[in-house]
Amino acid sequence: VNLFFEASTRTRISFEFAEKRLSADTVNVATSASSVSKGETLVDTARNLEAMRIDMVVIRHPSSGAAKFLGDRIRSNVINAGDGMHEHPTQGLLDLLTLRDKFGKIQGLKVAICGDVLHSRVARSNIWGLLKLGAEVAICGPATLIPREFKELGVHILSRIEDAIAWADALNVLRLQLERMHGGFIPSLREYNRVFGVTSERLARAPKDLVILHPGPMNRGVEIDSDVADGPHSVILPQVTNGVAIRMAVLYLLA
Ligand code: CP
Repeated sequence: VNLFFEASTRTRISFEFAEKRLSADTVNVATSASSVSKGETLVDTARNLEAMRIDMVVIRHPSSGAAKFLGDRIRSNVINAGDGMHEHPTQGLLDLLTLRDKFGKIQGLKVAICGDVLHSRVARSNIWGLLKLGAEVAICGPATLIPREFKELGVHILSRIEDAIAWADALNVLRLQLERMHGGFIPSLREYNRVFGVTSERLARAPKDLVILHPGPMNRGVEIDSDVADGPHSVILPQVTNGVAIRMAVLYLLA
């Protein structure tokens, strides 16, 4: 059962393709059309699904820890498809696969994760995976969106996008998650693009061609300009393609 409490294009659809390619029977639960909209709890929803004899739940939820919470309470395997600002493990894995496809290795790569790190589950899963496989990781963005405690994980902190571009082999550009911002984190989108936007002008000054990743959905003209997103060094669509293979692998191993 694909149980998505938040909107998703890439993750939900690629999980469904992965399930179908492995010959699973799948059901997508749109929470707005389920009894969750009448106040049914997450656990009651999952227990009722389980009463129909399911094997796995793929869950996306706005609360950090929701997947673990559910996994501790039902017998089925639970796969985290993104929980709040915490983790997005299959995105981390597909980003690693995309980098390995491009560079042939992860060990020794310099990867800069740029933008709204504070609200990003993608950043957290990337950091764990990249460091585990021997990459060097930097995070870069406005001070309001960079958790200083991340330094304890072993990442570098860079405050200028120009420094990240000069340092890195690959940039993972993050979306500004405006829906999770309840405060004045940035002066304006225009100002953000002017100071932190990944633009072709900035990339042209890099000592080498950088590989460009973005987990999607993109705010074109904010964190990334269209000529970069659609340019020759972008692997944004290969990331999406790799998402199906990664999710098939995760489903297969858990089954
Ligand atoms: N990368 C990602 O999680 O995209 P979706 O929100 O569209 O699933």
